[in-house]
Amino acid sequence: MNELFRRILWLPVQGSTVAGEVDALHYAVITITMIGATGVFAAALYFTWRYRRTDEAALTPPIRAPLLLELAVVGGLLCLFLLFWRVGFQQYLRLQSPPADAIEIYVTGKQWMWKFAYPGGQRTNARLVVPAGRPVKLIMTSRDVIHSFYVPAFRIKQDVLPGRYTTAWFEVVRPGVYPLFCAEYCGTGHSEMEAEVVALSGADWEAWIAGAEEESMAAQGLEVAARRGCLSCHTLDGQRHVGPSFRGLYGGVRQLIDGEAIADEAYLTRSMMEPAAQVVAGYAPVMPTYLGQLDAGEVAALVELIKSLRHPNPPPPGVDYPPIAPAAPTEAAP
Ligand code: CUA
Repeated sequence: MNELFRRILWLPVQGSTVAGEVDALHYAVITITMIGATGVFAAALYFTWRYRRTDEAALTPPIRAPLLLELAVVGGLLCLFLLFWRVGFQQYLRLQSPPADAIEIYVTGKQWMWKFAYPGGQRTNARLVVPAGRPVKLIMTSRDVIHSFYVPAFRIKQDVLPGRYTTAWFEVVRPGVYPLFCAEYCGTGHSEMEAEVVALSGADWEAWIAGAEEESMAAQGLEVAARRGCLSCHTLDGQRHVGPSFRGLYGGVRQLIDGEAIADEAYLTRSMMEPAAQVVAGYAPVMPTYLGQLDAGEVAALVELIKSLRHPNPPPPGVDYPPIAPAAPTEAAP
């Protein structure tokens, strides 16, 4: 049934685990609205014929519909609408909550191409390599204008914004190649901003991700941190310096001078781009902005470095860890 509808509507294959559900709701809404529209049209035709004017003197009698009938019709339609909303909202929530064990891949949109960076240190352009049968979380940002990450076969579309991160996740059902588009008009090259998602089998993925010639992203991040001067103010061993240490930072709750924030990817990126927007309580607002100074790969590598230094246990909600006791620095000093 699902497959028949898909062919009638000319939809692409259902390449992700959520595609079947999304389509099922789509088919239900289309079918019910088509039946409703057909019914209204047929009734209009019938009434036009049935109540046509046959006598010049005939008057239309006033019509008063029974209250119960009106309530039933309006209430029934409202219930139908709420049912669509409920199913759709559940799907939305699911799409907004990546599984904790998802593989994280950094996505950068720019006029006019897609770039990808993997935990193993690989970088690819216009080709997103993922494993089939495992959840993949995308951490996405743009270097210039708003783009939109759109894979029709996965039924996934998410705006990609400059200066902040958005996320999306999917799990590909079977290995294959799926087209990826930009779904937000982003300039003259918008229509050419194409790429593909290559889903590999589990074994092929393991071989691909292990076969990186580059260093891991966290190792690249250490090199970036040294080269860009981050380590002049931030330590790697948990000790306080001009700024907070990178160790134990990721995932904790940060007490800011005006509120608090969770130190996730979006927070870390914004701290680099707009440091004045989120000053941690107890520190002077002296960090310069790195907007336009760090390329997207460097930002992703720094975020991965900080993630690699996370506290071994994530803090419970509302609790911030004290810095980890100073340890002998094992990494290269600046
Ligand atoms: Cu990028 Cu349209």
